[in-house]
Amino acid sequence: MNSFVALISGLALAGSAVAWNGATAASIPTPVRPVSNGLALTPPMGWNSWNRFGCNVSDSLIRGMADAIAASGMRDAGYQYVTIDDCWQVARDANGTIVADSARFPHGIKAVADYVHSKGLKFGIYTDAGHFTCQHRPGSYGHEAQDAKTYAGWGVDYVKVDWCNADGIDAPAQYAKIKEALLHAGRPIVFSICEWGSNRPWEWADTTGNLWRTTGDIWDNYQSMVANADLNMQYWRSAGPGHWNDPDMLEVGNGGMTPDEYRAHFSLWAVMAAPLIAGNDVRAMVDTTSREARITRSILLNKEVIAVDQDSLGVQGMIVQDYPPELQVWVKPLKDGSKAVVLFNRASVPSEITASWWRVGIRTRKAEVRDLWAHKDLGVMQDRYRATVPSHGVVMVRVTPIAD
Ligand code: GLA
Repeated sequence: MNSFVALISGLALAGSAVAWNGATAASIPTPVRPVSNGLALTPPMGWNSWNRFGCNVSDSLIRGMADAIAASGMRDAGYQYVTIDDCWQVARDANGTIVADSARFPHGIKAVADYVHSKGLKFGIYTDAGHFTCQHRPGSYGHEAQDAKTYAGWGVDYVKVDWCNADGIDAPAQYAKIKEALLHAGRPIVFSICEWGSNRPWEWADTTGNLWRTTGDIWDNYQSMVANADLNMQYWRSAGPGHWNDPDMLEVGNGGMTPDEYRAHFSLWAVMAAPLIAGNDVRAMVDTTSREARITRSILLNKEVIAVDQDSLGVQGMIVQDYPPELQVWVKPLKDGSKAVVLFNRASVPSEITASWWRVGIRTRKAEVRDLWAHKDLGVMQDRYRATVPSHGVVMVRVTPIAD
């Protein structure tokens, strides 16, 4: 039995803490750690401009997206932070204060933040820990406290901090400096570390940031999505309430994957308790007639899958079975004692996958099974659940033990 199987079969709830029945101390993860800013107790959810729009950001884009996030049901499903990624900034003024692109943001950044807030959403922004951003805009190096105060003054609730043009800078120390700056900015700000896993952030960032990238950038194709999932999966022990592994933002709705692949993408992110930061044009989701919009909505707005991601136990799931390697079973233990189970078929043909209760960590013979994509109770099953899974797709269920 691998240690995760041992872990999930042994997890029991004792108040709000996670207790362990019968394993060595070395195999016990620490899902709950002190969180300095008290934020992101569940993985952050929101939208970010980069995946779909790159540098093409503007006041009207962000306002339009905030409108659509409210109108499409995204906001009510939990998507909260609306973040402008790279390219909003152009220079520093004589006092060193960061200056936004006045052609793209004619009313300034605070006006955009105010608008986003008026829609019942929160507002995020992007900077870089080094000298310049990845798109060669001014970085925050040497201006950490000043930038944090500027952001707080604008009403920023979330900051993503990149790692381009940072040669020779010590990542843990530099990100710690930014953490301090944000803590003293005068406003609660979620801190998203984006150094792509280059400095093993899963070993130190849990006391620095609320989330940290574990991988390079995702691209809108199946291979890239799976590569990021595989990398991110390894660090499951480091995640917990307030501090999350981040396999990068979602590509759902951007057109480069099939509906099955996008469902797999969303399911894997949820079972890994990953931040759910949409990266599509949400305005297109408001159109109820298009087939694309309907599919994208059925994925991004799947409340049962979102509930797995947002489960308050805050344990990152992982693979408990991969024999043969293409046919995987992923499991995430949930607060109520049930398990979220993803049967993931990486083969090029539809395949049957069986999840036995002992692998999943269910100790009773019988369990209730609910299909989280079909939104259907499948009834009581004994010892195992078996399903035929489409190529590159998933079947995702919630398994609740029934006392013998
Ligand atoms: C890096 C980050 C991306 C995005 C771009 C912006 O590549 O990893 O998520 O922020 O920079 O330039």
